[in-house]
Amino acid sequence: MTTPPVHPAQLIVDLGFGFILSGALATAAELGIADHLEQGPKSAGLLAEEVGAEASSLYRVLRLLASVGVFTEDASGCFGLTPAADYLRSAAPGSLRSAVLMLTQKIFWAPTGELTETVRTGRTPFDRIFGKPFFDHLASDPVAGATFHRGMSSLSDLENAPIARSYDFSACERVVDVGGGHGGFLIEVLKGSPSLQGVLFDHRHVLDEARIADAGLAGRCELVEGDFFKAVPQGADTYLLKRILHDWSDEVCVGILLNCRRAMKEGGRVLVVDTVIPPGNGPHGGKVLDVMMLASLQGRERTEEDLRKLFAQAGLRLARVLPTPAALSITEAVAA
Ligand SMILES: C[S@@+](CC[C@H](N)C(=O)[O-])C[C@H]1O[C@@H](n2cnc3c(N)ncnc32)[C@H](O)[C@@H]1O
Repeated sequence: MTTPPVHPAQLIVDLGFGFILSGALATAAELGIADHLEQGPKSAGLLAEEVGAEASSLYRVLRLLASVGVFTEDASGCFGLTPAADYLRSAAPGSLRSAVLMLTQKIFWAPTGELTETVRTGRTPFDRIFGKPFFDHLASDPVAGATFHRGMSSLSDLENAPIARSYDFSACERVVDVGGGHGGFLIEVLKGSPSLQGVLFDHRHVLDEARIADAGLAGRCELVEGDFFKAVPQGADTYLLKRILHDWSDEVCVGILLNCRRAMKEGGRVLVVDTVIPPGNGPHGGKVLDVMMLASLQGRERTEEDLRKLFAQAGLRLARVLPTPAALSITEAVAA
């Protein structure tokens, strides 16, 4: 059965209302509604008592989410889990609760509300709203920082294994994950190549929650704190930059790439794992992410040509672009 095309007027109206659904989803995630439905369906009244909410307001938010398939609502007004809602449970394998809390947190929401200003000036209002740039704010606000880094790990968990399997690491000996967060990607890379040594490189407050030891990889992976604008750990043959370059302007990216180029062993490589925006007008996850980067950071998603130019300014040459089952590609750069 084919779905009828959406009427052009309806498309515009739906897009205009889109943020209401994001807000409703954020509320369900924040209140932990899915956790409270693990034992079976409940009324909004009972849920409201359990989560500390006002019953009729909660009912209206859940009714909306049920209408788009996030929860079920039965004839007696009880709400239950759907396969989608299951991802909002904190303990679900591959839980996306932290990811939703991150995507809908104020660091993205507030600047997106002022996107027109950004488009007029070409500059994010982030520093004006939060008093400092994006990552400085996350470092100085422990709640915002933890929400962001846990959410990044949760979102990345969806993609880490298939991306790690998309590259043959058998020629690599030592790999540095630059800005590797809690280490979810590096763990998948190391699990796939038993002789590979790893270095997880990030800020101290991020490394404090690293998962390397819990994954049983402490013997094969060092945690190194530092600032990739100053330097990255020396002497590895492989430098991973996953979801890093898209956070920064071209000028800043060239500095990060130069630091990798200087640190890398002869014959080494830099693997940039970011979306590569394809030509054409089709939908692509990178196009949404790109506007998110525009709104809150100085970054952007890039085309293959954009990456080629960045590499050339850092003494590197784009060798190949490998697709992955996720929205991200692996772009390999070697010494020019
Ligand atoms: C968008 S997250 C990506 C995390 C991880 N690579 C992933 O794919 O889930 C960006 C990471 O860069 C780190 N970062 C930002 N500025 C940094 C700096 N100057 N030096 C080292 N790490 C930095 C952040 O702490 C964060 O972990």
